[in-house]
Amino acid sequence: MDKLIIEGGVRLDGEIRISGAKNSALPILAAGLLVDEPLIVGNLPHLHDITTMIELLGVMGVEVVIDEKLNVEINSATIKSYNAPYELVKTMRASILVLGPMLSHFGEANVSLPGGCAIGSRPVDLHIRGLEAMGADVVVEDGYIKAKTNGRLKGARVFFDTVSVTGTENILMAATLAEGETVLENAAREPEVVDLAECLIAMGAKISGHGTDTITVQGVEKLHGASYSVLPDRIETGTYLVAAAATGGRVRVKDTCPEVLEAVLVKLRETGAEVTTGDDWIELDMKGKRPKAVSVHTAPYPAFPTDMQAQFLAMNAVAEGTATVTETIFENRFMHVHEMMRMGANVSLEGNTAIVTGVEGLKGAPVMATDLRASASLVIAGLVAEGDTTIERIYHIDRGYECIEEKLQLLGAKIRRVPA
Ligand code: EPU
Repeated sequence: MDKLIIEGGVRLDGEIRISGAKNSALPILAAGLLVDEPLIVGNLPHLHDITTMIELLGVMGVEVVIDEKLNVEINSATIKSYNAPYELVKTMRASILVLGPMLSHFGEANVSLPGGCAIGSRPVDLHIRGLEAMGADVVVEDGYIKAKTNGRLKGARVFFDTVSVTGTENILMAATLAEGETVLENAAREPEVVDLAECLIAMGAKISGHGTDTITVQGVEKLHGASYSVLPDRIETGTYLVAAAATGGRVRVKDTCPEVLEAVLVKLRETGAEVTTGDDWIELDMKGKRPKAVSVHTAPYPAFPTDMQAQFLAMNAVAEGTATVTETIFENRFMHVHEMMRMGANVSLEGNTAIVTGVEGLKGAPVMATDLRASASLVIAGLVAEGDTTIERIYHIDRGYECIEEKLQLLGAKIRRVPA
């Protein structure tokens, strides 16, 4: 397995481009299952998870054509199987996103139940209950969610008792072809949900209220093909900004979307960094200073994102002062803490809160990536640490960060990939 080796202690300085958002691209690719005409998706990031989704559509018989710019054309008119097999679903939980569109368009979907996961138990009951409320017949049998509908799904009121991003996306996609009106209450407001809704509208769906907690969908009989470009990745953006702040450096990220990062930028300014923004760029300058510790509390959008929690924890590990980092979305999202403590971080865990007292410096060590954002936080810790840090199991990073070592090298980091 590949490893990353980072020689820490370099202040990041430079400019990089942000890739398309993984968590927008995945549901948008799945939305290709709603039409018999081609859906062309642009600004897709080169990531393992994107390849997995394309492979999943491919095994079901959906025709997927990739051009030289990595635009992907999906044509589900060729579908042969309504089966999302365990072998693929187990490698990527977001495979569950094919359930709603496949059921709504073809009347049948069999999707393997995603198993447990490194950051929490992550059930999919809300996805299933939402589809049942729309008249689907769903059984969970032999490790598979087997869903059927007699005729079109029926519009319904779907209330989410917990805010769920992919749950909202699944029901939103299903509702576009249902008979009548569907109202999603306590829906997720994440920018990726809004991006999916905009893509569905471009395909002829009738949706309003996306970006608020109540989304209304008037079902239509048929959608049509479209061409859509996915939004820039806010978590990738935030990760590079935090990396610059932690190293006392400066970074300008371009082709991004500052307005969807408000909660993160507020916290970055609290560290003492100078943060300036334009239409599609953000610049952070720490001016060689040590960041001040900042407390964060994760919650659904527009609050501070759980997907940025680990990176802020890494920065706090070397910041001036003590901060608390509270995780309210996933019950087990602190695996990175134990790895950072091996590098000299001073962190204590109390339930869902980490109390982090900044130390003057971390020391490089061999560490192990446990999930995607945890690995990003170890990269940040490695960038600030004295000496070499070797990160193993970096396939987690490749799921969500396009060309991470090339981008960091552009910023001056001493980082290299060592093939197994
Ligand atoms: N939940 C339930 N039942 C459900 C669905 C969710 O109880 O049926 C709970 C979950 O266990 C969790 C909470 O609801 O405690 C929120 O989970 P959510 O469903 O919103 O998470 P998700 O849709 O599975 C997406 C992102 C994650 C991101 C979360 C939270 C995608 C493909 N994944 O996951 O991204 O952390 O929303 O914002 O969009 C990542 O990119 O590293 C990542 C993990």
